[in-house]
Amino acid sequence: MRLLFLGDIVGRPGRNAVIERLPGLRDRWRLDCVVINGENSAGGFGITEAICDEILAAGADAITLGNHSWDQRETLVFIERQPRLLRPVNFPPGTPGRGANLIDTRSGARVLVVNVMGRLYMDPLDDPFAAVDRELETCPLGQVADAIIVDVHAEATSEKEAMGYHLDGRASLVVGTHTHVPTADHRVLPGGTAYMSDAGMCGDYDSVLGMQKEEAIRRFLQKTPGTRLEPGLGEGTLSGIAVETDDRTGLARRVAAVRLGPNLEETWPRFWD
Ligand SMILES: [Fe+2]
Ligand SMILES: [Fe+2]
Repeated sequence: MRLLFLGDIVGRPGRNAVIERLPGLRDRWRLDCVVINGENSAGGFGITEAICDEILAAGADAITLGNHSWDQRETLVFIERQPRLLRPVNFPPGTPGRGANLIDTRSGARVLVVNVMGRLYMDPLDDPFAAVDRELETCPLGQVADAIIVDVHAEATSEKEAMGYHLDGRASLVVGTHTHVPTADHRVLPGGTAYMSDAGMCGDYDSVLGMQKEEAIRRFLQKTPGTRLEPGLGEGTLSGIAVETDDRTGLARRVAAVRLGPNLEETWPRFWD
């Protein structure tokens, strides 16, 4: 199978990059499953139902979230009726929505998508390792799920690497999100799980993490109240990871970074050309 994961969509530049480029990439690379983190897609803060529908219509099979899950209050309501939108699985019991789901993709595959949040330098939540273990036990790779994608929304690369090796051999892909900066450590771990510490963001990279530079810089120079952080206005870049899995085991065979757009050096899975 051919999987594509894209990092945090930040505002309109990120949305436009996805809407303009994803339909063509789905065809060109004959993708079986596309998962995108959408936690900053609404003006940099959370996601609305209209934007969620727009990203799914562009070709995403599932959308994951993170610490910005509830920045738009409507998400607390519409997430209940949108099984393709996932919030971190280790939020407290009783939190609206779900943190994992077995998704039927357009190509007819069944892909377990799990969203989990780290605890280092983040809001304290339930144990992310135990929470993912529970989901994978009920839906094993190669038996119930054709592929398993775990989005580890976390600040610390140590926690993300630990999760990657903890799940090695049990998931198709363990990929980090949240820092909005792509890492260059994409690889297949010894047990067959594809891994990347951070997928980067889909957004305007001529910015500070997707937000306009002026106010972001000012906040480091002056400790006085300023204006709201607003997403950049330039053209967006897609950033993430492409994974090819073995149809029988669901484990990864090869991986490539994906960076398409201005600002960053472009790269893509040349083995799919
Ligand atoms: Fe983010
Ligand atoms: Fe985040």
